Amino acid sequence: MKINYVTPAGEAVTVNAELGESLMEAAVRNGVDGIVAACGGCLSCATCHAYIDEPWLSKIDPQSQTEKDMLDYASHVEPDSRLTCQVPVTAELEGVIVRTPPSQD
Ligand code: FES
Repeated sequence: MKINYVTPAGEAVTVNAELGESLMEAAVRNGVDGIVAACGGCLSCATCHAYIDEPWLSKIDPQSQTEKDMLDYASHVEPDSRLTCQVPVTAELEGVIVRTPPSQD
């Protein structure tokens, strides 16, 4: 599965992700800048925040209430914001563009 990340510096990085891992795990495993994931995916840090472009955003399950609550702690939140540890890689996400925020502070 090809996943395309855009780093805070605007660099495009394409990685091979495994079905079932999260967009956060694929980013961290491949050293993508801009995804910090301080809590390791247990939904308690919000430093895996990123923007998911359409049409892929609409193919992802809606945010849980806990994800919504955690996004309140993220900076630079936009309507297409998601916590990438909560987004599993599926076949529908082939070619997805995941843009990282200017910072995770
Ligand atoms: S990695 Fe901490 S909330 Fe996603």
